[in-house]
Amino acid sequence: MDIITRRFLPIISTLLLILVSLSSLASASLKVAFYASTCPSAEEIVTSTVNKAISENSGIAAGLIRMHFHDCFVRGCDASVLLASTHGNPAERDHFANNPSLRGFEVIEDAKAQLEAACPQTVSCADILALAARDSALKVGGINYDVPTGRRDGLVSVADEAAENLPAPTLSADELVSRFSRKGLSADEMVTLSGAHSIGVSHCSSFSKRLYSFNETLPQDPSMDSSYAETLKTKCPAPPSISDPTVSFDPSTPIRLDTKYYDGLIDHRGLLTSDQTLFTSQSTREMVLSNANDPANWSQKFAKAMVQMGSIDVLTGSNGEIRKHCTFVN
Ligand code: HEM
Ligand SMILES: *[C@@H]1O[C@H](CO)[C@@H](O)[C@H](O)[C@H]1NC(C)=O
Ligand SMILES: *[C@@H]1O[C@H](CO)[C@@H](O)[C@H](O)[C@H]1NC(C)=O
Repeated sequence: MDIITRRFLPIISTLLLILVSLSSLASASLKVAFYASTCPSAEEIVTSTVNKAISENSGIAAGLIRMHFHDCFVRGCDASVLLASTHGNPAERDHFANNPSLRGFEVIEDAKAQLEAACPQTVSCADILALAARDSALKVGGINYDVPTGRRDGLVSVADEAAENLPAPTLSADELVSRFSRKGLSADEMVTLSGAHSIGVSHCSSFSKRLYSFNETLPQDPSMDSSYAETLKTKCPAPPSISDPTVSFDPSTPIRLDTKYYDGLIDHRGLLTSDQTLFTSQSTREMVLSNANDPANWSQKFAKAMVQMGSIDVLTGSNGEIRKHCTFVN
């Protein structure tokens, strides 16, 4: 080593070190098994809590997958969907897109209570949501994937932001593509994630216009199979109605996360406008067909897309906080 190199080596290595730590700051990102040393039982606690809840009520799986989606689309995956409204500030969870339909809050609270007992203020509520969604997909769909963790919890929840960011069930395929692209998700990921509508239920009010008052000339949405519409009419009262029952998204396998949802779209048995449009629209029809034709490929794409969705605008490092209770900021 010549004298110049020897003199500058410490400086060069210091610069390198700074560069490396800067780049890790810039991508301060999630990683699989983030709690391996700080809370080794974290994932087991979530899994066992979620499994127990789903075995008592299979609908909880749908609730938890949807809750993660609704969290991530509003202010990123920061558990803002779990925060309670405060005086003068209605929170996301009280917006009509979430209240009364979003379910599974008590399961997250249950897991959080156990985690606080095992490892106080270590595991974020945002991570519990991401893990609970994965555990649900495994339990009711056999879809397993590693969940990168290390999210931190946000301090703010605003009901109006749910309105601005959550897609309405009346949107067209092109509108859905653009809503998802705002969150960094592709058209194919949007169609793939919509496969979550192969489980769970919808209130009639989310689609009853399709049955009774489609437009000025047609009472019924012509993109819906007419005998399916007749069946739905026996379950859903014509508006205006005080009662608002629920029906399964996928009557063929209502509690199995699978590609029967896409078969339903091909048969014109999609429940929401935003479901059926994926098949009606030229821009997404091929994606529906390929998911229907290749369930194994869809499962893999679903897992990947869930990880992608789970990384939207996350808080990491020293941003946000680790809540003590998921419903309240510290
Ligand atoms: C593409 C845009 C989407 C729209 C417009 C949409 C809209 C809706 C609506 C209106 C409901 C029924 C709410 C009710 O009336 O009870 C629902 C339920 C549900 N959504 Fe979506 N959704 C979309 C995408 C997603 C995504 C990406 C996921 C998850 C990856 C998801 C998971 C679910 C699940 C599992 C349910 C059933 C919930 C339950 O049974 O408790 N949805 N969605
Ligand atoms: C009602 O919907 C049908 C089918 O989509 C369409 O052809 C027709 O133009 C619509 N009518 C009005 C008045 O919007
Ligand atoms: C799904 O299939 C497509 C084309 O058939 C392929 O390009 C893609 O890599 C597959 N995706 C996964 C996650 O296996």
